[in-house]
Amino acid sequence: MAEDSDAVNHETAATETGRKATITFDDVTKTVLTADGPKSLLKNITLTFEEGGIYGVIGLGGAGKSTLLKLIDGNLTPTSGTVTVLGDNVAGLSDAARARLRSRISRVGVFPDFDEERTILESVAIAAGEAENAVEPDEAARAKALRLLREVSLRSQKDAHPSQLSGGELQRAAVARAFASSPRILLFDEVTAAQDHIEGREILRLIKQFAKESGATVVLATHEIATVKEICDHIVVLDRGFVVEEGPTYAVIADPQTDQTRVFLEAVSSLGKVDTLLAGHDPVVDLRPGQKLIALRYVHEDVSEPLVSLITRKFGIDVNIMLADVQIVGKYPIGGIVGVFEGPERNIRDAVAFLRSKKVRVEILAEN
Ligand SMILES: Nc1ncnc2c1ncn2[C@@H]1O[C@H](COP(=O)(O)OP(=O)(O)OP(=O)(O)O)[C@@H](O)[C@H]1O
Ligand SMILES: [Mg+2]
Repeated sequence: MAEDSDAVNHETAATETGRKATITFDDVTKTVLTADGPKSLLKNITLTFEEGGIYGVIGLGGAGKSTLLKLIDGNLTPTSGTVTVLGDNVAGLSDAARARLRSRISRVGVFPDFDEERTILESVAIAAGEAENAVEPDEAARAKALRLLREVSLRSQKDAHPSQLSGGELQRAAVARAFASSPRILLFDEVTAAQDHIEGREILRLIKQFAKESGATVVLATHEIATVKEICDHIVVLDRGFVVEEGPTYAVIADPQTDQTRVFLEAVSSLGKVDTLLAGHDPVVDLRPGQKLIALRYVHEDVSEPLVSLITRKFGIDVNIMLADVQIVGKYPIGGIVGVFEGPERNIRDAVAFLRSKKVRVEILAEN
């Protein structure tokens, strides 16, 4: 992926997973003409999105996230390069073929459009009926719509019209409508932005469940790293129209390679406190002879054993933990530990070698 660009590309190339690519961007650039001349919204984007994957596109305001989503559902066409969706080059489609493609894609935007004349239940049922090629929503479509509205906590408002709902409620209705249409591709643009914390998490849970059950590909644009961390298995970091970094969520969060990514990760703190600890001549780092202050960083997915207790037993050393910030992303620990290691020099050296063999990144911060 992204072979021609400078984007940092964490391992696990799409082709190695054996899953089908549902969306590919091949050197895509989107330029628009403005009063000040041409403006590039996206530049040289090469990306693959696979079937069943949940992708988080993160970037600051204006980075190009919404533009990327609009290129996927054919709302925009590239200025150069090719966007292929479900096997079709989006730019080359007839109107009929484009309509067919669009019926297999749902995009939930920041301001969902609903027919004011209809109740929420009717609108969701119509989407469910269309997915079954029914002219009018039948009983099954209405039942599906009701179930989905219940899932997004809107059952009691099923007979409300769009203007009677809050912004967050309308967005949840749009999520229900998107699921109802049984899409192969689901695009979400800041879908949790208008939700309170609890509803937001619930929506993310539903998206994950839907993706798992249906095998649909999900692309979620957001500037909240927490959202990505919660459900996305892949991250694409956009900055001013460029992909600056992409890869499996775990790899990107555990070991970000660009400053732009680190900006987002500040919320998912890591070992930034270590520097403070060292710089401030804190008494905790006044080491006695034979002690070493060592930082361990978990940056690989396969670190799952309780390594600290293991090394104290195996190598007969003491580890006094000064600082620990470990959280679970996916199924794996991420973050790190700073501890004072004490014991025979040789044993500490062996313990460090052992940790490195377990793919823990080890840094000796200070020693006495
Ligand atoms: N039709 C247009 N004409 C001119 N500039 C545009 C047009 N559409 C988007 N832009 C500009 O392109 C850039 C990318 O826009 P886009 O909406 O994709 O960003 P975004 O990452 O979704 O931002 P946000 O987080 O604010 O939603 C922005 O600077 C925006 O102002
Ligand atoms: Mg946007």
